[in-house]
Amino acid sequence: MGLFSLFVTLFLILNVAVICNGGITSKFVRKVEKTIDMPLDSDVFSVPPGYNAPQQVHITQGDHDGKGVIVSWVTMDEPGSNKVLYWSEKSKDKHHARGHMVTYRFYNYTSGFIHHCTINHLEYDTKYYYVVGLGLTERQFWFTTPPKVGPDVPYTFGLIGDLGQSFDSNKTLSHYESSLSKGQTVLFVGDLCYADQYPLHDNNRWDTWGRFVERSNAYQSWIWTAGNHEIDFLPEYGETVPFKPYTNRYPVPYRASGSTAPFWYSIKRASAYIIVLASYSAYGKYTPQYKWLEEEFPKVNRTETPWLIVLMHSPWYNSYNYHYMEGETMRVMYEPWFVKYKVDVVFAGHVHAYERSERVSNIAYNIVNGVCNPVSDQSAPVYITIGDGGNLEGLATNMTEPQPKYSAYREASFGHAIFDIKNRTHAYYGWHRNQDGVATAADSMWFFNRVWYPEAEHPVSQ
Ligand SMILES: [Fe+2]
Repeated sequence: MGLFSLFVTLFLILNVAVICNGGITSKFVRKVEKTIDMPLDSDVFSVPPGYNAPQQVHITQGDHDGKGVIVSWVTMDEPGSNKVLYWSEKSKDKHHARGHMVTYRFYNYTSGFIHHCTINHLEYDTKYYYVVGLGLTERQFWFTTPPKVGPDVPYTFGLIGDLGQSFDSNKTLSHYESSLSKGQTVLFVGDLCYADQYPLHDNNRWDTWGRFVERSNAYQSWIWTAGNHEIDFLPEYGETVPFKPYTNRYPVPYRASGSTAPFWYSIKRASAYIIVLASYSAYGKYTPQYKWLEEEFPKVNRTETPWLIVLMHSPWYNSYNYHYMEGETMRVMYEPWFVKYKVDVVFAGHVHAYERSERVSNIAYNIVNGVCNPVSDQSAPVYITIGDGGNLEGLATNMTEPQPKYSAYREASFGHAIFDIKNRTHAYYGWHRNQDGVATAADSMWFFNRVWYPEAEHPVSQ
């Protein structure tokens, strides 16, 4: 009994800080250095040797349930072969898949020969080797398909956003690669290379970025979300079609989920159902994205995929003085559905810092009733801003004060996160700042699934 009382007392003391503050603003002070892009002759951008050697090799999921992979690569000297040679670790039988090739021009830039090849009907949970550049300089890589979709399948996702190609970006990627949690797939929340920060949106920086991330992205799928730096709208130079470089380079399996555009779509992967939304495509009522999402949420079978994850670029709950309220109009449109369908977690980027919210919703307001404050809501998602990949625009350090009650933790540091699903009820989440050792999570929480274990994850302060 005495021991029990001690525990209760300790528990109460430990939680006083949370209850009084209504959230934590980290005291961690990052050494302020200028965030600059790595120069073009950096080793991470080096062109692979050999005539017409495939470069910028990257993969993403190629179908709705994880048995397909899209392999993409670029050749510079000539188109070369469209085919991918692949074989399972379990078999000596080799197969070919045929892809297609695209090129595009962006003002005075002409792309290399960009190849995309979808490999379908793979076996789940199997390591495959693949070769691109057939007949000329060949390069071999490998990937492992996800396990069969099912409710208790463990799976580990990495979270990276707003990566860019600075020295800090390289630290973030290295940190992710050496993570002890071993992320199996990256959920990328938008803003890839920041080429649009260069004169005429120098598309050579799309190429350098592709070479930079190849060391991870050729071996595991990165699931793409479009950010504002993918828009590449430059009408004064005749570039009036948004997302031209992005859509030519980074295909996604949007048709497999009934979407009509590559900016919003869904996939299943292991025990997770992932919905990708488009902050920079129309989302108002009657728009294609709205109609798709309205039909999409009821299709999610939480008995098959208990974890419902949404990715978007512009965050809805953000207490930094950067991009403040930019996500508000989409929140007004879609938040009631997120609560109704019990989304577990929403990952966004855009703000170059880190923040995790409490489970809150703000859906009662109807213009006349004045009920416009976020309230604690155990059916609501946790909102995580993870736009801290390390791009050249630098950190967002200026925060709204005092910290709003909905904000559980915020810190202006670069880093990445890991969402580690254990089974249908529990997932361990950790955010890692670049300045720490790989084993250290600067912010973490155990997620309880909203359908299978809808308890509060920690004492609620509201
Ligand atoms: Fe952004």
